[in-house]
Amino acid sequence: MRILAVESSCDETAMAVVEDGRKVISEAISTQIDIHALYGGVVPEIASRNHVLALDPLLDEVLPAGESVDAVAVTYGPGLVGALLTGVSWAKGFAYAKGLPLIPVNHIEGHVSANYLAHPDLEPPFVCLVASGGHSHIVRVDAYGKYTLLGQTTDDAAGEAFDKAARVIGIPYPGGPLLDKLADEGNDKAYHFPRAKVQGKYDYSFSGVKTAVINETHKLRQLGQEICREDFAASFRRVVVDTLVEKAVAAAVDSGVGKLALSGGVAANSLLRSEIERCGQKAGLKVYMPPKKLCTDNAAMIGSAAYYRYQNGVLAGLDLNAQPALRFLTD
Ligand code: KG4
Ligand code: ZN
Repeated sequence: MRILAVESSCDETAMAVVEDGRKVISEAISTQIDIHALYGGVVPEIASRNHVLALDPLLDEVLPAGESVDAVAVTYGPGLVGALLTGVSWAKGFAYAKGLPLIPVNHIEGHVSANYLAHPDLEPPFVCLVASGGHSHIVRVDAYGKYTLLGQTTDDAAGEAFDKAARVIGIPYPGGPLLDKLADEGNDKAYHFPRAKVQGKYDYSFSGVKTAVINETHKLRQLGQEICREDFAASFRRVVVDTLVEKAVAAAVDSGVGKLALSGGVAANSLLRSEIERCGQKAGLKVYMPPKKLCTDNAAMIGSAAYYRYQNGVLAGLDLNAQPALRFLTD
């Protein structure tokens, strides 16, 4: 079964054709990073307008004239409402015009499913850490499309903390990837940032460390002291990565499934990748992660999630609406 998948929840417009949930036939992405970098972050209205411009040309790239698909899938939440609406409206139009089934996909489930594309041998059950700009969840994938939430952030997402830390040391949007590079050159013990204590065994909290980086930079500036950006980035990255890895590995070990997968934009972080591999293996887990380009937003992951949704009988009508605050496991 070939599915045309559409993703437009934030600042990337993406389309892909995916076969049977596992094989990427074609994919294309139109990024708006340079446009939003001017403003230091995503401007929702500008994102929506650029999605509209990007959607039709992407179809020509992923589906050559004369080729067909069996269904169309689209991210309908969570994300920016206007941005989501462009993709949802486009997908509804395409489904109606071609008489195809329409499959609604939750963006977070898409991130988890990126692992199916990268690892043909990966099958549920497994535990997955989803760390992105808007979310930090630990879920157990019980079966395709069936999940148990083990833990989540009680406040900010890991990616949000990365972007804030980057901003305070003058790294331009999008901060996470550039902070990661800078951190490679620094000493991760130079600055001390707090590790949050959270009640839930597998829950996270990143607002404390976010505030700590802001306070520390203010303090140093008031004292007239130079901030070593490399050391600052390395110390911050170390705290966040250690926290993410410790709880994800514990959840996977305790659940007894023996497999731990990583996903979401923050899964592109080089230290998180190496540490989860190292600690996971040490704990006797088989560790899975998608290549970096499948960690950040893309449409192939939506096409994979859609295939298993379709198998589970999840379809949408032409009344499908964007749901900006859609929660994982409730749709
Ligand atoms: O999954 P994603 O592309 O979009 C959302 O669904 O939110 O994640 C974007 C987030 C941003 O916060 C970005 O800074 C972060 O992922 N990110 C990284 C890295 N690459 C992307 N954070 C740390 N290190 C990276 N290498
Ligand atoms: Zn995402």
